[in-house]
Amino acid sequence: MQFFIDTANLSEIEEAQAMGVVDGVTTNPSLMAKENIIGPDAIKAHYKAICNLVYDNVSAEVIATDFEGMIKEGRALAKIDDKIVVKVPMTKDGVKAIKYLSNQGIRTNCTLVFTTGQAILAAKAGASYVSPFIGRMDDISHHGMGLITQIAQVYQTFECTTKVLAASIRHTMHLIRCAEEGADVATAPFQVIEGLFNHPMTDIGLARFLSDFNEVNEGEESTEALKAEKNTLEEKIAIG
Ligand code: E4P
Repeated sequence: MQFFIDTANLSEIEEAQAMGVVDGVTTNPSLMAKENIIGPDAIKAHYKAICNLVYDNVSAEVIATDFEGMIKEGRALAKIDDKIVVKVPMTKDGVKAIKYLSNQGIRTNCTLVFTTGQAILAAKAGASYVSPFIGRMDDISHHGMGLITQIAQVYQTFECTTKVLAASIRHTMHLIRCAEEGADVATAPFQVIEGLFNHPMTDIGLARFLSDFNEVNEGEESTEALKAEKNTLEEKIAIG
């Protein structure tokens, strides 16, 4: 399963990229607004800056809601960089625009998907990705993960080339379950991806390894750095 980072924040993208586990970026108008990116030129420049940070796959969402507007905007977004995937909402005009853009060889991500029926329509129109929103379904007491399972099964049955891009991910268990259920990609906020690193037993184990090493290497120059690291780990464990 690929990992995308769900943010428009350049520092987070840079940091995630440096961790070596991120394959792409998803943005949406809310995430762009959070970064205070205002006006078409600034938006374009920001997408370009994101593209410069990653190897491929930057989802950039259209704002227009009518077919003509979506294809105009979609084509302009695709021109910014080859890494752009045009994100289009699941509406009648959106599906029409996905068909048009994919016929032009432009990659698309159908967003705001909440049913398997919508995912089938997106695939039929030739979407490269479909984005079911797990967290927002859970928020209204629906089974977000069940949607991933069902779409993944249907796509497998019909040998669809459209990839399941699990979105609206709120915590690490969402990510792990997406991998179990056969999502091709999961997009998550920085903190959720970072959360996968954590386990107290890892911290305790590392502190013990360093302490055992230090006991027999006391006085060696290299132990100073190790002692400092051990102290940091012990502080971390004490904080809990
Ligand atoms: C990404 O493609 C989606 O826009 C995003 O995951 C939505 O997440 P939210 O439901 O937490 O806003």
